[in-house]
Amino acid sequence: MQKHVTGLVQLVDVSGARPRAQTVWPTVVLPKSAIEAEIERLADILRPSNGVRASAVNHPMNTGPVPAYAPGIAVHMQVLKPGEEVEVGMRNSSLVDMCIRGTGGVKVGGKQFAVEKFDVWNTPSMETQIYRNDGSDLFVRLSYSNAPLLERLEVHYVDDEPASTGKKYTEAAEASAAGAGPRARDVAKPIVIGRDGAQMLGYEWLVDIDTVDSQPLLWPWKEVSPHLENVHAMDLGYTGRHLYVLYNPATGRRIGTSHSFFATIAKVPAGKVDRPHRHSSAAINYIMWGHGKSVVNGEKIQWEEGDLHFSAPGWSVHNHASREQGLMALTIQDHPLHIAMESLLWQETLKDPILKLGSNRGPDTNLNTLRKAA
Ligand SMILES: [Fe+2]
Repeated sequence: MQKHVTGLVQLVDVSGARPRAQTVWPTVVLPKSAIEAEIERLADILRPSNGVRASAVNHPMNTGPVPAYAPGIAVHMQVLKPGEEVEVGMRNSSLVDMCIRGTGGVKVGGKQFAVEKFDVWNTPSMETQIYRNDGSDLFVRLSYSNAPLLERLEVHYVDDEPASTGKKYTEAAEASAAGAGPRARDVAKPIVIGRDGAQMLGYEWLVDIDTVDSQPLLWPWKEVSPHLENVHAMDLGYTGRHLYVLYNPATGRRIGTSHSFFATIAKVPAGKVDRPHRHSSAAINYIMWGHGKSVVNGEKIQWEEGDLHFSAPGWSVHNHASREQGLMALTIQDHPLHIAMESLLWQETLKDPILKLGSNRGPDTNLNTLRKAA
């Protein structure tokens, strides 16, 4: 229902106005015990009519319009009991998921795969999704979505009846994939303006954009985990991070797992202390194993296996440290989104310059020196 606008459009005098101070969401930890208790509670409720047993993690500073753990990142715990199956409608938000308990079947669009603990996969926008618990334990996944930003923009398209409009979308998508004929934009020749690269383009260029094949991809833990030994074995003096990005080639130079988020899995040796740094992307860490501590905006915080840590509010100085066990963690950051917006500011150490990654060359690590010494 469209609301009637009752007030007048106002003009706000911003002449000479100072920049607005940003509201920093403090670092917080959702402990494993709270996650486990919520999973059990979701398993005990009467099955909702849409089949979705889920809880959204909400940061205490969030002002909505939907629950979110970082301003642009939602984290939902999705639970299915043995034998349950749920179909989720199409939406223009996209997901990165990690299975944290049990086993299940996942069908995204026309692709299906089985998942188990610590498997990670991405779900492109506008795909039908079916999840099935074919095991004997609860099937639980942490699902990270860029929906909070779309909700803030008031353009989160959600179709819970994929059999109707969703089907029309799918048919149109298939037809466009099949259409390899000449494009109208090919005859709408660019007009060069001046000598610095400015151009004028016809409408055809606006609506017929070069496409990128966007697929659901799976990173099975069985295949990922042996490679983590490489980063785990690296010298404590390594100035980079002991991790791998789960890279989806559809994201190209923006090095993402989905078009909005990257997922990394770190395996950090014991006694590692990162240097304080900051970035405009926000970060959420799920501690898969081990324990450690962080200093974020001057605030000390500890975390351990099974905790969900809002570990880096955008542009907050922070560093993380492992303790005597080392640790493994899944980190989700809205880094590719920022690269697309030309807003990814990065300061590798507080002595280094502020860089705009994607436009400025990024910082080097000492990887070359370490490789030569090995
Ligand atoms: Fe960071």
